[in-house]
Amino acid sequence: MNKLEKVCAFLDAAKTYYLATTEGDQPRVRPFGTALLYDGKLYIQTGKIKNVSRQIASNPKVEICAFQGGKWLRLAGELANDDSREVKEAMLEKMPGLKGMYSADDGNMQMLAFVHGTATFSSFTEAPETFSF
Ligand SMILES: Cc1cc2nc3c(=O)[nH]c(=O)nc-3n(C[C@H](O)[C@H](O)[C@H](O)COP(=O)(O)O)c2cc1C
Repeated sequence: MNKLEKVCAFLDAAKTYYLATTEGDQPRVRPFGTALLYDGKLYIQTGKIKNVSRQIASNPKVEICAFQGGKWLRLAGELANDDSREVKEAMLEKMPGLKGMYSADDGNMQMLAFVHGTATFSSFTEAPETFSF
């Protein structure tokens, strides 16, 4: 498993992570659960009509935090919109529950890829493990 696969597997195992964005000088955070590794890139999914999408459009720098199995992950990075149909279909196949809310052609479903980032795995007992991509 490469390092980005490890990040995606951790988010999958945690099931819920928290995504922080900014709105002007105000941090905003909410629960998220979508994660997909596709073509070597890590994606998350949202709806273009959401405030979170507007916030990422004006400032694509985000941070994610997840906790699972005694370890926590912080992933800071920058997101970019990807409108390719294939990646939307792959997301819907991985998490079929999304099909009740989104489809690849609804003009709302949004896939956001990390163009770069820094991931840190931490625990109370081990030294932090950090890598950038
Ligand atoms: C467990 C859980 C997982 C969620 N996963 C996602 C997700 O992956 N993508 C998404 O757009 N919304 C997801 N949501 C819903 C968002 O948290 C919700 O729409 C939130 O209000 C969006 O942020 P905003 O109000 O700043 O736009 C999830 C909610 C919960 C409770």
